Amino acid sequence: MSSSKIIAVSGKGGTGKTSICALLVRAFKNKGYGPLLAVDADPNANLAEMLGLKTESSIGEICEETKKYDGGQAGMSKNDYLRFRLEQIITEAEGFDLLAMGRPEGPGCYCYANNVLRDALKILMDNYKLILIDNEAGFEHVSRKTNLKIDQLLVVSDPSLRGVDTAGKIFNLAKNIGLPVEKTGLLLNRVKGGISSELEKRIEDIGLGLFAKIDEDDCIVDSAQTGKSIFALPEDCKSVRAVAGFCDKLLK
Ligand SMILES: Nc1ncnc2c1ncn2[C@@H]1O[C@H](COP(=O)(O)OP(=O)(O)OP(=O)(O)O)[C@@H](O)[C@H]1O
Ligand SMILES: [Mg+2]
Repeated sequence: MSSSKIIAVSGKGGTGKTSICALLVRAFKNKGYGPLLAVDADPNANLAEMLGLKTESSIGEICEETKKYDGGQAGMSKNDYLRFRLEQIITEAEGFDLLAMGRPEGPGCYCYANNVLRDALKILMDNYKLILIDNEAGFEHVSRKTNLKIDQLLVVSDPSLRGVDTAGKIFNLAKNIGLPVEKTGLLLNRVKGGISSELEKRIEDIGLGLFAKIDEDDCIVDSAQTGKSIFALPEDCKSVRAVAGFCDKLLK
């Protein structure tokens, strides 16, 4: 049995999933926790950019060839072949690695790419202590079929009633499709000031416990505008401090 942990970040579009994933990579890297793999499971990939990397290749690229692979000439099993190709498409950075899903080409390849991603993660679990997954908005795309045990699912939401309702729906969907998730928590992002009692009540109602809060942070706004990597943010940025503060809790 592998002892690696999988943390997945999900939530509605634009809630801050990728920023939070990047902040988590930074936090775990700074603590020297690893080997660490960041997975950009969103075809509209931008986790790499936030981490200051350029990805040359992705799962999408090897999707078609893995699909066609029949053990063929090389006499390698499909799994061995995938392992071999994964080594080539993983980007190695300082203190962490990155695997991108990319944009699968070819008809029917999108679904198949999810299968490839699942098989890839199974293989990679032996190599990494922690795998952090940045999901496409609407978690079900990737996760329905992955069937991998997720140790911690973080659902990100803005601090609004409607946002929290949507997070609740994602949580319920995860439950209903039988997603093998160990722990789930709500991550309120872009919090300005306090949380109203109405919002507190709504959070209680959706049954998804509040895991942590991250304040609205000008550092993140600036880095989005300038295209700077998450590693360029000063240590005392609100979001950097918040994530560094709660990241250990994710491993428990
Ligand atoms: N705590 C924060 N404070 C200020 N701005 C933030 C914060 N978190 C995220 N943002 C901003 O919100 C926008 C969306 O963030 P991000 O791309 O991380 O969201 P996402 O959920 O990954 O989006 P998508 O669904 O498109 O993948 C970005 O412009 C980002 O800079
Ligand atoms: Mg994103």
